[in-house]
Amino acid sequence: MRSLWLDSHDPHRIRTAELPADPSFDVVVVGAGLTGLATALMLAHQGLQVAVLEARSVGALATGNTTAKLSLLQGTVLSQIRSQHGPGVTRAYVEASRDGQSWLLDFCRAHDVPVQYRPATTYATTKSGLSSVHSELEAAQEAGLDARFEGGLELPFEVAGAAVLEDQAQFDPMDVLSALAAEFVQLGGTLVEGVRVTSVPRRGPFTLETTAGQVRAGKLVLATGVPFTERGGYSVRMQARRSYALTFEVGDGFRPHGMHISADDPVRTLRSVPHDGRELLLVGGNDHVTGRTSSPAQQVLDLERWTEQHVPGARRTHAWAAQDYHPAGHLPLIGPLPGSDSTAYVGTGYSKWGMTGAVAAALAISGLEAGQAPAWLEPLDGARPGVKSLGTGAARNASVGAHMASGWARGELRELPEVEPADGSGIVGRSGGRPVAQSTIDGVTCRVSGICTHLGGVLAWNDAEKSWDCPLHGSRFAPDGQILEGPATRPLAPVDDEPA
Ligand SMILES: Cc1cc2nc3c(=O)[nH]c(=O)nc-3n(C[C@H](O)[C@H](O)[C@H](O)COP(=O)(O)OP(=O)(O)OC[C@H]3O[C@@H](n4cnc5c(N)ncnc54)[C@H](O)[C@@H]3O)c2cc1C
Ligand code: FES
Repeated sequence: MRSLWLDSHDPHRIRTAELPADPSFDVVVVGAGLTGLATALMLAHQGLQVAVLEARSVGALATGNTTAKLSLLQGTVLSQIRSQHGPGVTRAYVEASRDGQSWLLDFCRAHDVPVQYRPATTYATTKSGLSSVHSELEAAQEAGLDARFEGGLELPFEVAGAAVLEDQAQFDPMDVLSALAAEFVQLGGTLVEGVRVTSVPRRGPFTLETTAGQVRAGKLVLATGVPFTERGGYSVRMQARRSYALTFEVGDGFRPHGMHISADDPVRTLRSVPHDGRELLLVGGNDHVTGRTSSPAQQVLDLERWTEQHVPGARRTHAWAAQDYHPAGHLPLIGPLPGSDSTAYVGTGYSKWGMTGAVAAALAISGLEAGQAPAWLEPLDGARPGVKSLGTGAARNASVGAHMASGWARGELRELPEVEPADGSGIVGRSGGRPVAQSTIDGVTCRVSGICTHLGGVLAWNDAEKSWDCPLHGSRFAPDGQILEGPATRPLAPVDDEPA
């Protein structure tokens, strides 16, 4: 599965470099998604020597697999923040999003990045969804957004009502990353792909351990989605949630003008995508905690069927999946890494609204470095978990604990079958008294430890993406055990003994 954005992006558009001998920088930014590249560019503009170290390739995770709606109306996020933290914090969140949106739109204008301006909606198809729409509208208006109610929309099914906000935007996220990277490199920044940072000391100046040797940095920015250091407890304060996106050729069929997302579950998100002189339909949804659905392939199929039902003749061109991190309390986690004396910063926890959130994080981190933190940062800081949302966080951790125990029990109970898995499939079972993950892809059978190297979750097979996914904090591994994403820093150990 590969996103339309990554599939149609020419990797040669981005100028990357090798690490120099004895590398040393004012700041190392870890991760080349939107958070990392926007932060790196802002810091480079301050005259700092900055390097971005990316484990895979630019945009490989959430940013290259997003649906890329740059909107201040964000599903039902504002009403959820308002109900937990009140109107003042909601207003601060909207201001942060507005700053992120304005900066990115200005950047796109200045660099000829194509952007389509569209109305954003949060729509309902049921009575309870309609009540959520009204709450969202109230929270949005109270926070200063010029949102309005509409009784019907352009969608090819009946809608009970919607909150609508005009003049929001959509784009191709790889266009944005390419333009950010180009200006960063032009300013003298160093962008390196294929180098994973594996450990960081508590505070700077840092000597970082990486898969390409040691790298020195005065300061550090972790722009890795979930941070891979346990300091700050990020992996347990957030839930990794994966969802799916598909694009379709529709001929003369339905293509939305607006960008729509449902208030009802299961969430459906729709937009159009200009591509090769025509417009495709993008449909997304079926969000779930990573590693906790029995068949991701069924989730893709379900979205495809839903689309075919509403848009007869729609023909799928691409299907992909990605995860983002959802913190208790719905507020992004932006600022200094605890215990680092402000020598390390983090930007994460955007709950699938990181097109605004990641740029807001970049503005906050670069502002803190320049001694000019944005005014909205302090109210967001004050409201983060540890205050009102601790209950939600504790409940979340309890569910993780329960899952871990039951995962172990399942792994202990079932013997690994004697026959190798059919091509394209994988299974975790007990072999020699321990959980072993066995899969066969393109005729190659791999046997690796079935226990996540992060904190010991029992892995689940992802039948859509052919990966091992951890149901605890969202680490994902390739069939041969290599790390794909998440907080784990070590690959899965190979299991050499013969199948039981
Ligand atoms: C399906 C989906 C749809 C979405 N739709 C929208 C939307 O319409 N609008 C919106 O506003 N937001 C949306 N989002 C959210 C948004 O895409 C993300 O919040 C945002 O892209 C996060 O950017 P990031 O740079 O923080 O993370 P990422 O893009 O995930 O970048 C992190 C990078 O760090 C690298 N990395 C990780 N660990 C290491 C390490 N140890 N060493 C070196 N590199 C490392 C990774 O390889 C990765 O490239 C969506 C998210 C998903 C999953
Ligand atoms: S990601 Fe934490 S145990 Fe697997």
